[in-house]
Amino acid sequence: MRQVRYEGRNIQSYELVDPEGRDLPPFTAGAHIDVHLENGIVRQYSLCNSPGDRRRYVIAVLRDEKGRGGSKAVHEHLKVQDRVRVSCPRNHFELAEGARKVILIAGGIGVTPLKSMAHQLAGRDDAGCELHYCARDAQSAAFTEELASLIEPGRLHFHFDGGDPAKGLDIAQLLRNEAQDGTHVYYCGPAGFMRACADASADWPKGTVHCEHFKAPERAVPRDERTPGGFTVEIASTGERLRVPVDQSIADVLKAAGVPVQTSCEAGLCATCKVRYLSGEVEHQDCILDGDDQQNFLTICVSRAKSELLVLDL
Ligand code: FES
Repeated sequence: MRQVRYEGRNIQSYELVDPEGRDLPPFTAGAHIDVHLENGIVRQYSLCNSPGDRRRYVIAVLRDEKGRGGSKAVHEHLKVQDRVRVSCPRNHFELAEGARKVILIAGGIGVTPLKSMAHQLAGRDDAGCELHYCARDAQSAAFTEELASLIEPGRLHFHFDGGDPAKGLDIAQLLRNEAQDGTHVYYCGPAGFMRACADASADWPKGTVHCEHFKAPERAVPRDERTPGGFTVEIASTGERLRVPVDQSIADVLKAAGVPVQTSCEAGLCATCKVRYLSGEVEHQDCILDGDDQQNFLTICVSRAKSELLVLDL
């Protein structure tokens, strides 16, 4: 860890470099890394620096007192000169090719992947980029000066609502006026903000709306009401069948049975646990797979079966 910086109220950025000064594995805007914290906690954080900068990864973390403990662990324990274990970058929030205009909408700390996009787009003259940054107030907004250096004057808009979303950006109006060929929108932020953006962009052309959740939204149906009594998964390669009770995930059951599966966020956010299924009906509970992917894959950390039997391509 080379640097820890105050970026805004309860927000710190962390600059990670290779201990030997070597280049780091490359990434593209929108990518995130897994950060391994003490007690086996692993959290995903978006990279917010320029993808062209091979010498460092920069993440920014909002301390969330009501969260699962990852952000508090980062704020309290990560220090300059610490050795920190991180994964290679992965990206499920890529910039699409061929956009004529890009609208970035950030809710709070959701600005982090969008800042990296602003870096990447700053070097291109084929796509105009504008950023709408929604925050409670100026003190809660991070990277304001850096963003101003990346985005043309008049295209960087701060929306401070004082804690009342009704006084902030009218997302529905913004996106109603912008839907047109060649325009892509990218958004990231807290749950209510995500819902507002999803509703406002529901009629946009397929493939032009892109988002990333940094926190799993509340599940629509409580876990124990969905599949009473649980369901069975079958491992296609061996024919082994395992019962998934209501209080365990498919990933938990597979791991307990010694089936080698990988998980990371365990919240339906990162797709590390994505597995192909061959038959059965899935109740998708993640925030990462799109409609096409959902026809063939599920995230086994959160998604479940609606059918009695689900056959996994493992
Ligand atoms: S482990 Fe991240 S989506 Fe399942």
